[in-house]
Amino acid sequence: MKIFGLVVSILLLLIAGCNTVRDEMAPEINTEIDSEGFYTERAGDFVLKYKVEDSVNLHCRLTGAGTGWISVGFAPSAQMKDANFIIGYYDNSTGFISDEFGVTSYSHEPDINLGGTSDVTLLSAYETDGKTSLEFKIPLDSGDTKDRVLSLGTTYPVIFAAGDADDFVTIHSQYDFGAILIRN
Ligand code: HEM
Repeated sequence: MKIFGLVVSILLLLIAGCNTVRDEMAPEINTEIDSEGFYTERAGDFVLKYKVEDSVNLHCRLTGAGTGWISVGFAPSAQMKDANFIIGYYDNSTGFISDEFGVTSYSHEPDINLGGTSDVTLLSAYETDGKTSLEFKIPLDSGDTKDRVLSLGTTYPVIFAAGDADDFVTIHSQYDFGAILIRN
């Protein structure tokens, strides 16, 4: 009987442990806010600062390691699929940016090649200390089916990647995962 009680206790502990694991899988949202009102999401070498402006736009400052392209993909459904990608790089004193969409789990295309529209405004691009930074704005709801709607009060997965080349097509040398909460 004692052994039966022990087995039941172990089973209960295992079930409680499983719940803990499931809880831990909910994305952790960073509550850090800077003096300009940007929230911060960090993943590996990537830092995304973001804030909602006028309940209409998401203003972003993205930094990643390396001097090739860097990117954030908003709200993928699986791997790279369905993500609203903003990809950019800095070359020859000029910033380049592209609004793209995750067509399959491992590919993306510019929105404008998919019948969509380009819905990103590049505000600045630069490289310092071997890192690339992009500052840009995207609409929370562009009306383009090749973007993802971002709603206030909702948490979304984001993916980050960086490649060694100054272009929009060379495969990444690193990627990472994060989550953002769209909030005022
Ligand atoms: C530029 C052209 C790109 C190509 C050719 C490409 C291709 C691929 C391929 C073949 C894989 C699977 C194999 C692997 O893990 O290396 C992959 C995985 C992945 N890619 Fe890309 N990718 C590109 C851009 C991006 C961008 C811009 C992002 C994010 C901003 C991204 C995020 C990811 C992530 C997070 C995975 C891992 C998915 C998982 O295993 O769960 N990729 N990509």
